[in-house]
Amino acid sequence: MKALVFDAYGTLFDVHSVIEACEREFPGHGTALSHLWRAKQLEYTWLRSLMFQYRDFWQVTESSLEYACRARGLTLEATAKSRLMDAYLHLAAYPEVRETLASLAGRQLLILSNGSPQMLSALVESSGLKEAFAHVLSVNAVKVYKPNPAVYQLAATRTKLDRGAIGFVSSNFWDICGAGAFGFRTFWINRTGATPDSLGYTPDTTVKSLSELVPLAGG
Ligand code: LAC
Repeated sequence: MKALVFDAYGTLFDVHSVIEACEREFPGHGTALSHLWRAKQLEYTWLRSLMFQYRDFWQVTESSLEYACRARGLTLEATAKSRLMDAYLHLAAYPEVRETLASLAGRQLLILSNGSPQMLSALVESSGLKEAFAHVLSVNAVKVYKPNPAVYQLAATRTKLDRGAIGFVSSNFWDICGAGAFGFRTFWINRTGATPDSLGYTPDTTVKSLSELVPLAGG
């Protein structure tokens, strides 16, 4: 493998690091609100792609937050909304990310994400990880979301590598399925002991944390 392509949300950055911010705005609802927000956010990316009604990930993230609050009977004031959306720009990187990326630096490292270019650039800046990546690619270039093959093609085009020479790393099983169907070598990061979906695809490699990638993909 000549390049490693990382998913961002849930893989490098912990989307549930917004729980604290959710809890501050809506005491007692933090965890449930964060989980519903994330679930709807993903659902909206899939629905919008199927409907050919692309809106960027910032808008999808905002409308899924609005839904999640409404569904839980919470009133989302403009100021609270703006604080919660801002939290999404400063998600915490998982603890092992920095060291893992440093150990993998011999490879070309990329991000390929649903995030809008502005969201991704804020994230890599605020986490201090910008320098680790040769390219940060957003679906915004093709205006359709993962797991559409046009998205994975962005990484193949940018690296000018054969699909089989590209390793794809994600904690999102459905994203691994999309990347594997496209022809990338896949590394599923299963931190939570999640059950693989029945989509007729088995990841090439499954590990529990990003640091386990180093001996497998490092040298
Ligand atoms: C991303 C989504 C899958 O970063 O979390 O693309």
